[in-house]
Amino acid sequence: MTASLTILRPDDWHLHLRDGAMLQAVAPESARHFGRAIIMPNLVPPVVTGAEAAAYHRRINAALPQDSAFTPLMTLYLTEETDPEDLAAAYHDGIITAVKLYPAGATTNSASGVRNFDKVRPVFERMADIGCPLCVHGEVTDPEIDIFDREAVFIDRILDPIRRATPGLRVVMEHITTKQGADYAQSGGPDLGATITVQHLMLDRNDMLAGGMRPHYYCLPILKRREHREALRAAATSGHSQIFLGTDSAPHPTHAKESECCSAGCFTAPVALSCLAHVFEEENALDQLETFASRNGPAFYRLPENTQTVTLTKGAPVTLPETVRMGQVSVTVFDPGHPLHWSVTAQS
Ligand code: DOR
Ligand code: ZN
Repeated sequence: MTASLTILRPDDWHLHLRDGAMLQAVAPESARHFGRAIIMPNLVPPVVTGAEAAAYHRRINAALPQDSAFTPLMTLYLTEETDPEDLAAAYHDGIITAVKLYPAGATTNSASGVRNFDKVRPVFERMADIGCPLCVHGEVTDPEIDIFDREAVFIDRILDPIRRATPGLRVVMEHITTKQGADYAQSGGPDLGATITVQHLMLDRNDMLAGGMRPHYYCLPILKRREHREALRAAATSGHSQIFLGTDSAPHPTHAKESECCSAGCFTAPVALSCLAHVFEEENALDQLETFASRNGPAFYRLPENTQTVTLTKGAPVTLPETVRMGQVSVTVFDPGHPLHWSVTAQS
């Protein structure tokens, strides 16, 4: 039995840090163990220009602990008004690493997203020219489509046509949740990547809905059937070079989760590595954890791997924080519903 595992410091290729008091509360949680993270731009109002991304980058750095080496990698929020020249300049200057596509209405703070994909064709063309990755929230917003089918329908109706029409466009399917997503990502060639979250590896919709409704497991795309979770686990542990970690850690105040209309998002950052080691051990694939969490992401984003390491050790059940304080309110930390035995015990 492996009781200790040292891997290159992981990165988080999909993270929500928010702003203001929430940013102050949650930034240290990701900075503790992760080297870098792709920072989602769905603030209110969203981060739509290079100048706004640069300003948000400064606010994140100011919220990090003094000795932190954590690097936030910024994104722009794509709107139908996005200026390809501003985008290209921000990418060229290293202000942004990627651009995020939210179909309007698909999820939290997506109202400024894209309704008519033809309107952003020139932006896609420019991104293909300069090699800037497009991070995609892959769900259709058609109210006629069942929420559990929205990812699979998005691939057929929107994503595949965009990719065919824009050769060379580098796309990351964010937080895939289905077998269809995993299959498409693994057969898409070097210009297609996909991230998988902690909660979609650990849970299926029964965990959220059977025997009582658990709001802290509600996120978008929504948890799917068991067979989809199995497909995601197979993809994550396969070592396939296009599949990597993006936690989608998405903090909301506890009162916004435990409410009549629960906000979507699981706050996994503080427990992400303990959860991942648990999953990879269950799959007899601890030897693939580093590939998924620390190697495939930088390879896709054409960045160097981290040189520092983290050591995970297995022992007695770990006591994990239940909440993180944000001033007067709390943010509930993801709890998979069973003990976790792995924790980070050393870092270099
Ligand atoms: O569950 C989610 N929460 N999914 C998203 O796409 C957005 C995120 C958030 O910002 O809270
Ligand atoms: Zn997200």
